[in-house]
Amino acid sequence: MVDHQTQDSWLQVEEFLARTLVKGDDALDHAVSTAREAGLPPIEVAPTAGKLLMLLARISGARRVLEIGTLAGFSTIWLARGIPDDGLLVTCEYSPEHAAVARRNIERAGVAHKVSIRVGAALETLPALPADEPFDFVFIDADKSNNTNYLRWALRLTRPGSVIVLDNVIWEGSILHPETDPDAAAIRASMEFIGSSPRLEGTAIQTAGSKGWDGFAIAVVS
Ligand code: SAH
Ligand code: DHB
Ligand code: MG
Repeated sequence: MVDHQTQDSWLQVEEFLARTLVKGDDALDHAVSTAREAGLPPIEVAPTAGKLLMLLARISGARRVLEIGTLAGFSTIWLARGIPDDGLLVTCEYSPEHAAVARRNIERAGVAHKVSIRVGAALETLPALPADEPFDFVFIDADKSNNTNYLRWALRLTRPGSVIVLDNVIWEGSILHPETDPDAAAIRASMEFIGSSPRLEGTAIQTAGSKGWDGFAIAVVS
């Protein structure tokens, strides 16, 4: 769909931004390399997006973060770095294999004391979280078919002023053709949910780079 020269330029721009602004480190590099060695798909957020998550958590003053979709812990490490040392990040992961890789990466990054991994289908582990201790920040990045279910859970588990970020909302532009792909339809429906919810004010940003043409939505809870 996109020609190679364009894709190569996106990649070069991302690499420039990553080395100039993001400045990753060994713990983050290791999270990605161990994921590849374990055969996990290359679907962690781009470094530029990972740092954005850290900055958003910090800017919003988040102390309690909920993540849905851990993979190898790359976004988890970024988010954990955006909260205070006595904060809490609960991250939900379906696959015990992914969770095992993530656990090691999170320990290696020195943030294990503030991270709790809940293994299993998120729709089964989310109901165990206490509703009287709201999360300040939620990052949704798991099975796209459940996006709207996760948004409903996020509304239950947050407070006015909490921030919700949803990954992969452009899906190579396929949200324009929801009839061609059930995930595209679910992603589109989840943005319509944000747009029509009286408790959410949101927008979305398109991105281009190592993860192709994609984007994220951000919303504030009222
Ligand atoms: N947030 C990660 C990437 C997550 S990839 C990062 O940026 O580094 C999506 C993850 O969601 C995968 O590890 C997949 O196993 C997990 N997942 C899929 N279905 C799930 C479900 N029902 N409940 C919890 N996690 C799920
Ligand atoms: C997929 C999932 C993601 O969370 C992502 O960022 C990219 C791709 C996927 O399931 O294909
Ligand atoms: Mg994603």
